[in-house]
Amino acid sequence: MKTIITYGTFDILHRGHINLLRRARELGDRLIVGLSSDEFNAGKHKSSLLNYENRKYVLESIRYVDMVFAESTWDQKIGDILTYKADIFVMGDDWEGKFDSLKEHCEVIYLPRTQNISTTQIKAELEPSSL
Ligand code: CTP
Repeated sequence: MKTIITYGTFDILHRGHINLLRRARELGDRLIVGLSSDEFNAGKHKSSLLNYENRKYVLESIRYVDMVFAESTWDQKIGDILTYKADIFVMGDDWEGKFDSLKEHCEVIYLPRTQNISTTQIKAELEPSSL
Protein backbone atom coordinates (compact mmCIF):
# COMPACT_ATOMS: atom_id res chain seq x y z
CA MET A 1 0.00 0.00 0.00
CA LYS A 2 1.71 3.18 -1.21
CA THR A 3 0.27 6.41 0.24
CA ILE A 4 0.55 9.77 -1.52
CA ILE A 5 0.03 13.05 0.32
CA THR A 6 -0.60 16.49 -1.16
CA TYR A 7 -1.79 19.90 0.07
CA GLY A 8 -3.70 22.86 -1.28
CA THR A 9 -6.71 25.16 -1.11
CA PHE A 10 -8.58 23.65 -4.07
CA ASP A 11 -11.03 26.57 -4.26
CA ILE A 12 -13.36 26.59 -7.31
CA LEU A 13 -12.14 23.17 -8.43
CA HIS A 14 -10.81 23.22 -12.00
CA ARG A 15 -9.06 21.06 -14.61
CA GLY A 16 -5.59 21.89 -13.22
CA HIS A 17 -6.59 20.55 -9.80
CA ILE A 18 -8.06 17.37 -11.28
CA ASN A 19 -4.92 16.77 -13.39
CA LEU A 20 -2.77 17.19 -10.28
CA LEU A 21 -4.93 14.83 -8.20
CA ARG A 22 -5.10 12.21 -10.97
CA ARG A 23 -1.35 12.14 -11.53
CA ALA A 24 -0.67 12.10 -7.78
CA ARG A 25 -3.03 9.15 -7.26
CA GLU A 26 -1.42 7.25 -10.15
CA LEU A 27 1.87 7.27 -8.21
CA GLY A 28 0.43 4.93 -5.58
CA ASP A 29 -2.61 3.26 -4.03
CA ARG A 30 -4.09 5.92 -1.75
CA LEU A 31 -4.21 9.73 -2.06
CA ILE A 32 -4.78 11.87 0.99
CA VAL A 33 -5.19 15.64 0.76
CA GLY A 34 -4.35 18.27 3.36
CA LEU A 35 -6.91 20.97 2.64
CA SER A 36 -6.12 24.50 3.84
CA SER A 37 -8.52 25.56 6.55
CA ASP A 38 -10.23 28.96 6.25
CA GLU A 39 -8.22 30.21 9.25
CA PHE A 40 -4.93 29.03 7.69
CA ASN A 41 -5.83 30.83 4.45
CA ALA A 42 -6.70 33.99 6.36
CA GLY A 43 -3.27 33.84 8.02
CA LYS A 44 -1.74 33.75 4.51
CA HIS A 45 -3.92 36.75 3.53
CA LYS A 46 -5.68 34.47 1.06
CA SER A 47 -9.43 34.01 0.96
CA SER A 48 -11.35 31.27 -0.78
CA LEU A 49 -14.72 31.73 -2.41
CA LEU A 50 -15.93 28.40 -1.00
CA ASN A 51 -15.48 27.68 2.68
CA TYR A 52 -13.63 24.65 4.08
CA GLU A 53 -16.70 22.42 4.40
CA ASN A 54 -17.72 23.08 0.80
CA ARG A 55 -14.21 22.56 -0.57
CA LYS A 56 -13.89 19.34 1.46
CA TYR A 57 -17.24 18.00 0.24
CA VAL A 58 -16.27 18.58 -3.40
CA LEU A 59 -12.78 17.11 -3.02
CA GLU A 60 -14.10 13.99 -1.28
CA SER A 61 -16.32 13.28 -4.27
CA ILE A 62 -13.33 13.13 -6.66
CA ARG A 63 -12.52 9.55 -7.60
CA TYR A 64 -8.77 10.06 -7.14
CA VAL A 65 -9.11 11.32 -3.55
CA ASP A 66 -9.32 8.80 -0.71
CA MET A 67 -9.25 11.09 2.30
CA VAL A 68 -9.24 14.80 3.17
CA PHE A 69 -7.95 16.36 6.39
CA ALA A 70 -7.37 19.95 7.50
CA GLU A 71 -4.10 21.82 6.98
CA SER A 72 -4.02 24.45 9.69
CA THR A 73 -0.30 25.27 10.07
CA TRP A 74 2.82 25.40 7.89
CA ASP A 75 4.74 23.01 10.12
CA GLN A 76 2.35 20.08 10.44
CA LYS A 77 3.62 18.27 7.34
CA ILE A 78 6.23 16.04 8.96
CA GLY A 79 3.70 14.94 11.58
CA ASP A 80 1.13 14.23 8.85
CA ILE A 81 3.64 12.19 6.81
CA LEU A 82 4.37 10.06 9.89
CA THR A 83 0.72 9.79 11.01
CA TYR A 84 -0.59 8.75 7.60
CA LYS A 85 2.56 6.77 6.70
CA ALA A 86 2.91 8.74 3.46
CA ASP A 87 5.45 7.36 0.98
CA ILE A 88 5.37 10.26 -1.48
CA PHE A 89 4.72 13.99 -0.97
CA VAL A 90 3.42 15.65 -4.15
CA MET A 91 2.95 19.32 -5.09
CA GLY A 92 2.67 21.26 -8.34
CA ASP A 93 5.95 22.68 -9.63
CA ASP A 94 5.00 26.21 -8.59
CA TRP A 95 6.37 24.87 -5.27
CA GLU A 96 9.55 23.38 -6.81
CA GLY A 97 12.29 23.06 -4.17
CA LYS A 98 10.17 24.54 -1.36
CA PHE A 99 9.58 21.22 0.41
CA ASP A 100 12.90 19.46 -0.23
CA SER A 101 13.53 19.23 3.53
CA LEU A 102 10.75 16.61 3.67
CA LYS A 103 13.00 14.25 1.67
CA GLU A 104 14.32 13.02 5.03
CA HIS A 105 10.89 11.51 5.64
CA CYS A 106 9.52 10.45 2.24
CA GLU A 107 9.95 10.89 -1.50
CA VAL A 108 9.13 14.43 -2.71
CA ILE A 109 7.78 14.94 -6.24
CA TYR A 110 6.84 18.22 -7.95
CA LEU A 111 4.46 17.66 -10.87
CA PRO A 112 4.26 20.12 -13.79
CA ARG A 113 1.31 22.51 -13.39
CA THR A 114 -1.44 22.52 -15.99
CA GLN A 115 -0.94 25.59 -18.12
CA ASN A 116 -3.33 28.53 -18.43
CA ILE A 117 -5.73 27.81 -15.59
CA SER A 118 -5.80 28.74 -11.90
CA THR A 119 -8.28 29.76 -9.25
CA THR A 120 -6.79 33.26 -9.33
CA GLN A 121 -7.48 33.47 -13.07
CA ILE A 122 -11.08 32.22 -12.69
CA LYS A 123 -11.72 34.76 -9.94
CA ALA A 124 -10.30 37.55 -12.12
CA GLU A 125 -12.59 36.53 -14.96
CA LEU A 126 -15.58 36.70 -12.59
CA GLU A 127 -14.82 40.31 -11.69
CA PRO A 128 -17.80 42.47 -12.79
CA SER A 129 -15.46 44.64 -14.85
CA SER A 130 -14.66 41.67 -17.08
CA LEU A 131 -18.28 40.69 -17.73
N1 CTP B 1 -2.22 23.11 -9.65
C1 CTP B 1 -1.80 22.60 -10.90
N2 CTP B 1 -2.15 23.24 -12.05
C2 CTP B 1 -2.88 24.39 -12.01
C3 CTP B 1 -3.32 24.91 -10.77
C4 CTP B 1 -2.96 24.25 -9.60
O1 CTP B 1 -1.13 21.56 -10.95
N3 CTP B 1 -3.17 24.99 -13.16
C5 CTP B 1 -1.82 22.43 -8.44
C6 CTP B 1 -0.94 23.29 -7.54
O2 CTP B 1 0.39 23.27 -8.00
C7 CTP B 1 -1.11 22.62 -6.20
C8 CTP B 1 -2.58 22.13 -6.27
O3 CTP B 1 -2.96 22.15 -7.66
O4 CTP B 1 -0.26 21.49 -6.09
C9 CTP B 1 -3.52 23.02 -5.48
O5 CTP B 1 -3.32 24.34 -5.90
P1 CTP B 1 -4.14 25.61 -5.41
O6 CTP B 1 -3.18 26.66 -4.95
O7 CTP B 1 -5.23 25.22 -4.52
O8 CTP B 1 -4.79 26.07 -6.83
P2 CTP B 1 -4.50 27.30 -7.79
O9 CTP B 1 -5.46 27.22 -8.94
O10 CTP B 1 -3.03 27.41 -8.11
O11 CTP B 1 -4.96 28.51 -6.88
P3 CTP B 1 -4.43 30.00 -6.78
O12 CTP B 1 -4.60 30.63 -8.13
O13 CTP B 1 -5.31 30.63 -5.71
O14 CTP B 1 -2.97 29.89 -6.36
